[in-house]
Amino acid sequence: MEREPRRLADALAEVRRVTQSLAAPLSAEDQMVQSMPDASPTKWHLAHTTWFFETFVLAPRAPGYRVFDPHFNYLFNSYYESVGPRHLRPARGLLSRPSLAEVKRYREHVDEALQRFLREGGAVADAATLEVIELGLHHEQQHQELILTDVKHALAQNPMAPAYRDDAAPAARGAALDDPPPLAYRPCEGGLVEVGHAGPGFAFDNEGPRHRVYLRPFTLGTRLVTCGEVLDFMADGGYRRPTLWLAAGFEAVTRGAWTAPLYWEERDGAWWQFTLGGSRPVERAAPACHLSYYEADAVARWMGARLPTEFEWERAAAGAPVGGSFVESGRLHPASPTPAANGALGHLYGEVWQWTASAYAPYPGFVTAGGALGEYNGKFMVGQMVLRGGSCASPRSHLRATYRNFFPPDARWQFSGIRLARDA
Ligand SMILES: [Fe+2]
Repeated sequence: MEREPRRLADALAEVRRVTQSLAAPLSAEDQMVQSMPDASPTKWHLAHTTWFFETFVLAPRAPGYRVFDPHFNYLFNSYYESVGPRHLRPARGLLSRPSLAEVKRYREHVDEALQRFLREGGAVADAATLEVIELGLHHEQQHQELILTDVKHALAQNPMAPAYRDDAAPAARGAALDDPPPLAYRPCEGGLVEVGHAGPGFAFDNEGPRHRVYLRPFTLGTRLVTCGEVLDFMADGGYRRPTLWLAAGFEAVTRGAWTAPLYWEERDGAWWQFTLGGSRPVERAAPACHLSYYEADAVARWMGARLPTEFEWERAAAGAPVGGSFVESGRLHPASPTPAANGALGHLYGEVWQWTASAYAPYPGFVTAGGALGEYNGKFMVGQMVLRGGSCASPRSHLRATYRNFFPPDARWQFSGIRLARDA
C-alpha cells in the first residue's frame, strides 16, 4: 500500500469493492443472521467498516463532511469506549433496521466522501490522516475474512446446509485425495534473532517494536497437519484421553461435547464437513481446519511434537514469499498440499491460520497510541493465543511474516489449523 493520496484512493476503492463482492452471494436475510455472540451479521460488517472511516477520518478531518445518520455511531461502534456507548455485541443480529439497502447507501455516501477527500482534498490530507485511512483499509480486510467465517457459522446452523457459493471448496483430484506428502521436519537454527516489524510498509501496532529473542535450535513440520491425521487422532480416542490435553482444553472438550473438529459430521461411517460450498467429504490429505488452540495442542502432543512459538514461525518465514492459496483463489477451503521440494516448508502462508504456542502479549517497548485508535489492538492482549500465516479466506495483500492474528484458545470458527514443531 502507498501513502500517496491518489494511490491510497485507488487501493481503498478496490478494498471497498472486494467487501461488496464478498456479500454479493448472500440474500438480505442471510446478511442479518448472527449465529453466536462472537460472529457478526454480514450487514453489520458492511456498516461497521464504513463507520470506522466516517468516525476516524471523515467526521474529524474532512471539511464540510455530513454524517450519514447520527444513530449509526451507537449501532456500529464495535468496541471503542472512547467513542461512546454502543449496541450490545450479542444483539447485532436483531437489527432489521437499518435495512441492507440503507447500509449500501451508507457505504456509497462514505465512499464518495473518501474519494473526494483523497482526490480533490489530497493537499489538506496530512500524513497522520493518510495513516488512519491506511489503517481503515487493513481493518476492512480483517473484516472481509470475518464476513466469510461468520457467515459460514451462520449457514452451518441451517439443516439444509446451504452453500455460500456452490463452486466453493471443489473436491481434490486424483492422488491428492489420499496421499499427502510425508511429514518431515526441517531444522532451523537457533540463536539471538530479530523479530517484529521495522521499516517501510504497513504493519499494525502489535507487530512492533522489532526486538531480539533467543531461540533454541528447533525443527518445523514441512507441511500442515492433515484431516487424515486428525481422523487417526480421533480413532485413537484422542478426544477422550485427558492426558493429551491441557486442563482448560479438556474442560472445553467436555463442555462442548467435542468429538471432532467444528463442522465435521459422521454419516454412515464416513466423515463429512460443512464448507462454504455446502457439505463435502472430509479429504484425508487436506490440511485440518476449524480446530481450537486446545485441539491443536492435543493433536501435536499425540503426534510427538508441539506447536511452534510465534517467533520460531516468524524466524522460519522471514524472507519467504507470501505464497499459497488465499481468498483470491475462490476455493474458500484449504486445499490438499503439493509435495514441497527438498524439505522446504509448504503452506507457510494460506490455507489455514497456524496456531502458535505464544500467548498474545505486547512486545517489549510496546506502547498503545493515544486516542480512540489506541484501543485497536493493545487492550486485547490477555487470554488469547497468536496465529500466524493466513488462510484461504485471507486477502493475500493483508499478510506478512510479522503479522499477528489472535483468538481465544477455544475459538474454532476461524480457518485455523496446525503446524508442528520439535526441539532440535
Ligand atoms: Fe472492526
